[in-house]
Amino acid sequence: MSHAEDNEGSRRDFLYYATAGAGAVTAGAAVWPLVNQMNPSADVRAASTMRVDVAGLEPGSQLRVLFLGKPVFIRRRTEEEIAEARAVELSDLPDGDSRNANAEGTDASDENRTIDEAGEWLVMTGVCTHLGCIPLDNAGNFGGWFCPCHGSHYDISGRIRQGPAPENLPVPQAEFVDDTTILLG
Ligand code: FES
Repeated sequence: MSHAEDNEGSRRDFLYYATAGAGAVTAGAAVWPLVNQMNPSADVRAASTMRVDVAGLEPGSQLRVLFLGKPVFIRRRTEEEIAEARAVELSDLPDGDSRNANAEGTDASDENRTIDEAGEWLVMTGVCTHLGCIPLDNAGNFGGWFCPCHGSHYDISGRIRQGPAPENLPVPQAEFVDDTTILLG
């Protein structure tokens, strides 16, 4: 083999390997976003969840927190409020069959809306389902929340009862992770 042929052979080999290498990098770049979506990094997970300490919340009062840009109401209800919410017939609800993120059932019964079985803890996105105002608590004709923008009345389970809002206040993903901490998201 001459010296010239030898050089050419090396160059071909080099080009072949360089191309193969570039192909591998491209394939890797295309696959990575999929893998990344399936395994969100710790900071992505942290940004889409929030821990709320509810130790100081008295029965009959609520906390408002901002979560993912929206207000979330966390209400600790009294025995009377629980009894009132659970006595309502589904047929009296304009949005009686709505489904909630946490619920196993497919209706808007109060049992499907609270995060504990006893019904003491109600967590809702505090955005009126009419045009997005923030309802006032302890207000309105049904002892729950009232949206003053156009007069929507929600009951003590956050279900629409009167006014233009078409749906109940949404129930986001939420759970107790210890006795006094609710995890949102
Ligand atoms: S935005 Fe609440 S009633 Fe219209």
